[in-house]
Formats: sequence, structure tokens, C-alpha cells
Amino acid sequence: NWSMETFVEDKIREIRDTVGDRKVLCALSGGVDSSVVAALIHRAIGDQLTCMFIDHNLLRKGEAEGVMETFTGKFDMNVIKIDARERFMSKLAGVSDPEQKRKIIGNEFIYCFDEESAKLGDFDFLAQGTLYTDIVESGTATAETIKSHHNVGGLPEDMKFKLIEPLNALFKDEVRKVGEELGLPREIVWRQPFPGPGLAIRVLGEVTEDKLVIVRESDAILREEIAKAGLDNEIWQYFTALPDMKSVGVMGDSRTYSYTVGIRAVTSIDGMTADWARIPWDILEKISVRIVNEVENVNRIVYDVTSKPPATIEWE
Ligand code: XMP
Repeated sequence: NWSMETFVEDKIREIRDTVGDRKVLCALSGGVDSSVVAALIHRAIGDQLTCMFIDHNLLRKGEAEGVMETFTGKFDMNVIKIDARERFMSKLAGVSDPEQKRKIIGNEFIYCFDEESAKLGDFDFLAQGTLYTDIVESGTATAETIKSHHNVGGLPEDMKFKLIEPLNALFKDEVRKVGEELGLPREIVWRQPFPGPGLAIRVLGEVTEDKLVIVRESDAILREEIAKAGLDNEIWQYFTALPDMKSVGVMGDSRTYSYTVGIRAVTSIDGMTADWARIPWDILEKISVRIVNEVENVNRIVYDVTSKPPATIEWE
């Protein structure tokens, strides 16, 4: 009979005892886990916590701004934003293999975090949003062996920090409860799953700035319309993907030759299996019309009607 009030109180006491008057660093990604860890530790030790938010250019529209606003604004936390957009884009240039892209992004994230944290001075502790399931899963053959997820246990062995992992006995739904208890906004607490490599695996093949714009803008329209239709609680994950293909279309009197955007929306319990979501046709139509009208270089929309298996949720 787990109660979140006691959990939060106990953890705050524990964190204070462990940290004393020393300093803690936390990598904030905008995801549920790192956000809850940051808010929890901040509640315990205030300004002894510094967060680092790395903008790698692969987040969804408005996300980087949203994270900064929430944590520096509402929570008045110390957040250092690192603009690593060019750094990641140059590493990804010319790379089209999905696993290669994942590795590059995972490694670059660690190098970047290492370099930038060294500039910030000395920290004694590193806070991480490791969950119970992360510990269990990283020991076994799960989806991880099919696609190398980079956000679990990805830190260099020689790091000088001691780890603080206050959520490592919790499941996702409990983490969300803690997040609500700490007053985090709904968009963060109920954020749909978002892969560590971000939009890079939703631009199929080589990642370019132009293609990222298409995915970011079309995804924003999809999210807006799904929310407007009140479907955001029913659908487990929904996003757009950009296949590396162009097709012929017609606009006014002229022929177009532009990109196709794929819409992916699934229902699922844990992401291990999934069914494609039966979004009402009129909603799909609205989304399709808006994307083609509002996003440049797109003339065709397709809807993914495969379940997992045999397909995966992501397209890469
Ligand atoms: P798939 O595509 O394997 O996705 O059916 C299952 C769930 O995992 C997410 N996913 C990832 N998460 N790094 C992540 O952190 C990754 O490389 C990655 N690939 C897939 C996906 O969004 C879905 O929720």
C-alpha cells in the first residue's frame, strides 16, 4: 500500500541525508523520468541542484522551450541549456543506417554531457531517472537487443560522480503519481513515450535540417488535432515519420513532386506489442489536409495500418 506522499517525504529526507551540503548534477531531457527526478531533488536540496538540458535538435516542436519554461520559470531551478544542435547535425551528416544513427546520438550525448559538465565545475553526485523496469530490462533480452536504446545505463564507467537514483524502485505509473504530487505540468507527467534518438529515427535515412522541419511541423499538427479530438488519452503513441521518398501530386495547374508523410498511431500497454489506432476518418482527413496545406514540400499522407508485430512502432 504505496502512498506517494510518504514516498516523496521519505525520499526527500534520504536525499538530504545523502547529499548534505554537496552538489548534484542532473541531465534533464524533458521526459517524465528525468523531470520527476529533477523536481524531487530540487524539492529536497534547492539550489544545490544544477540541471543540464542538451538541445540536440531532435526534439519535437516547442519542447526545448517548454522544458526551459517549466523548470526555470515555474520551478525556479538552475537549468543550463546547451545548444548542441550543430554538433549533432554534423555527426549525423551522411549517415542513413538506423542503428548507426542511434549509436552516434547516444555517444554524442555522453561526450557532450561530459564536456559541458566539466565546464560547470565540481559535482559530487549525478542524479538519474532510472526506473525499476530499466534495471530489470537491461539485464535481459528485450526490445533493447533489437534496437539499441541509448538511454539506459549509458554513462561512462570512469565518471567521477556518485549516482543518485531515487526512482529505481518505481514503475512508470508510480513515477507519474510522484510527478503530479510535485506539481509538474500534465504535458510532462502524461507525455507519450518519446525515443532517446528523437526525431532522428523518424526521418528515415539521412537526417537533414529540411527533413527535420517536415517531421517537426507535421507532428505538431497531428498532436494538435489528436488533442482537439480528445483522443490523446486513448492513443498510446502517435507521431509522423518521413520516408525517404517523393511522389507525384498536383496543385492548381501544376504537377508537384514532393515528400510523403506517414502517420503512425498505436494503442498499446507497454510498447512490446501494439495495434494501430482506429482514428475516425474525419479526424484523419483534417490532419491530412492540414499537413499538406501547412507543411512545405509535402503532397501525400499515408496512414500506417500495421500492428506490432510484425511492424515496430517506430519506422526505424
Ligand atoms: P519499437 O519501434 O521498437 O518501439 O516498436 C517500442 C517503444 O520504444 C521506443 N523506442 C525507443 N526508445 N530509444 C528509446 O529510448 C530508441 O532507440 C527507441 N526505439 C524505439 C518507441 O518510441 C516505442 O515507444
